[in-house]
Amino acid sequence: MSLHISAKKGEIASVVLMPGDPLRAKFLAEHFLENYRLVSETRNNFYFTGQYKGKPVTVGASGMGCPSIGIYSYELYTEYEVQHIIRIGTCGAYTTELELYDLINVNFAVSESTYARHAWGIPGNTIRHQGEAYQVIKSVAKRLKKKIVHANVHSSDIFYRKTEEIPPLALRKKCLAVEMETFALFANARHLGKSAATLLTVSDILPSHQRISPEEREKSLLPMMELALETAVRL
Ligand code: HPA
Repeated sequence: MSLHISAKKGEIASVVLMPGDPLRAKFLAEHFLENYRLVSETRNNFYFTGQYKGKPVTVGASGMGCPSIGIYSYELYTEYEVQHIIRIGTCGAYTTELELYDLINVNFAVSESTYARHAWGIPGNTIRHQGEAYQVIKSVAKRLKKKIVHANVHSSDIFYRKTEEIPPLALRKKCLAVEMETFALFANARHLGKSAATLLTVSDILPSHQRISPEEREKSLLPMMELALETAVRL
């Protein structure tokens, strides 16, 4: 048992799909998993383990921000022998070249966060996806003929800010979109020698203020969930 996850050893699969929101984890389990059961509910953060096409898969939330995903992913990798974590989240596009509902497979996470440096002595502000999950997502998307963009994203600590200008670091590193978690996930995976990828659905276009409405949001994430599950089967 770990500090923030109450599942017993053996109750978490080697592949974990990780949305930000616990209710989204529940939605994914109810829609896609067979024989699923609740294995942890510490802090109302539900983790479910079940099967997809016969492959054991766990789904559970990261919460919001690098500190939160830093805690959950570390405990999963170190206490439960998890090999692969695929974050499945939403992001805000920095460019109108992206459209609502577009899918992004994250290559580099770019951040002003001190997480990687202070936790693990990893220097710099850029960390790549780790292990095989990214390549498997890429090949599964191709096989399923799902359009997917491979891009760098900005993992920001800030959701509300004074200006609408794109932060200089994100511009310099050619980040097409912003989210808040991937940098810490990739840092943990790199330090521990594990596999980590992030799939994102564009939910907001920041320059034009378009966004997916709250009613559409849940359904809009189904293609990303399906791609993540089809990837899990091959990991
Ligand atoms: N900023 C940060 N994270 C996000 C956003 C955003 O605009 N949209 C979805 N996740």
